[in-house]
Amino acid sequence: MRIAFLYSSKNGMASSLQSRRYEETHEEDDPPLDFLAECDSDETIEAIGRALGERHEIVPIEANDEAYLHLKKLRPDLVFNIAEGLVGPNRESHIPSICEMLGIPYTGSDPLTLGICLDKSRAKEILAYHKIPTAPFWVVENGSGVSLRVKLPAIVKPLHEGSSKGIKDNSVVRNRPELKARVREIQSIYKEPVIIEQFLTGREFTVGVLGNPPNLEILPIVEIDHSQLPPGANPVYSYEAKWIWDQPDKPLEIFRCPAEIGPDLKHRIEDIIRKTVEVLRIRDWSRIDIRLDERGEPNILEVNPLPGVLPKPEDNSCLPKAARTAGYSYSALLHRVVDEAATRYGLNHGKRKHHRGDRLQLLRSRHQPAERAPI
Ligand SMILES: Nc1ncnc2c1ncn2[C@@H]1O[C@H](COP(=O)(O)OP(=O)(O)OP(=O)(O)O)[C@@H](O)[C@H]1O
Ligand SMILES: [Mg+2]
Repeated sequence: MRIAFLYSSKNGMASSLQSRRYEETHEEDDPPLDFLAECDSDETIEAIGRALGERHEIVPIEANDEAYLHLKKLRPDLVFNIAEGLVGPNRESHIPSICEMLGIPYTGSDPLTLGICLDKSRAKEILAYHKIPTAPFWVVENGSGVSLRVKLPAIVKPLHEGSSKGIKDNSVVRNRPELKARVREIQSIYKEPVIIEQFLTGREFTVGVLGNPPNLEILPIVEIDHSQLPPGANPVYSYEAKWIWDQPDKPLEIFRCPAEIGPDLKHRIEDIIRKTVEVLRIRDWSRIDIRLDERGEPNILEVNPLPGVLPKPEDNSCLPKAARTAGYSYSALLHRVVDEAATRYGLNHGKRKHHRGDRLQLLRSRHQPAERAPI
């Protein structure tokens, strides 16, 4: 297949943002220091391109505001999508929306699911409706006052970020002054609403999922062992834990995979993972975070339908780690995602089923009005 590989590189996104801010907004403020944390490094992009290239023709495309034109011209068989997008609460939906518009098949979840999951409150509302346990929460809009609506301690997070952006060791708050200070800080740095969640005190896990219902493969569960954090740190997998205290030459030994858990807990975790994938309509792959509440009941913390896939084991990226434990090489993991998407669209066995875009083209050509004879 000819696959367009859509990514958001750190360099590409930094320069797109710069020109955009200069041309459109003339904003004075610098973006937050962790602005590019979600974007991929050149090393990751090259590793993915190489792995996919073992079986397919790969055309790498930066997911900037030229991407639409490239895709329109190229019309690949499939888009392999890891694009985080540039700005806005719907940024992860931009590339899948373009693919939808052009009738190009793409890997992973659709724009709606990506948008919902990037807004932690919307994802939790859907989970709560389906009685899937998730911590009580409320959202403070940018600029509004702070009231207290959940039991303390709580954790204060930006509403639509990932990669622990804005979630620091001090994001766990135990009293009102701390709560107010954290909310103000996030509002001023990220300029977006804040979600305040009741703090779940139990063990934490993250779970990789491949495939589509009813054939889901739940990868070996990864435990995040908070006892490995530096002394005095809060039991959270914070920005510091992900990007500062964990270095390739001095890794934080924070993961246990497979997690040491009994069959009952494993069953309960897998059960809510399956339900979550179904109700949020996640496709092909994802990584879902779980934490036990004070009664030992698994709760969904948040859902990543566009999971990070750093290539080197020492990078401690959880989905490749879980996949390795299940026997997948890095390439095999990525090929599995391609195969899942290809199966959904009926692209397997070298035969390309007509895409919606192709079918529309066909319909248009059949219904061209007959040329009028000159009067
Ligand atoms: N309600 C909560 N109760 C307890 N701990 C929490 C809660 N919410 C978040 N955390 C802690 O903060 C960490 C980061 O939170 P979260 O997973 O929401 O952030 P993220 O930036 O979306 O993460 P990712 O890197 O997985 O995209 C979690 O791994 C967990 O340790
Ligand atoms: Mg998380």
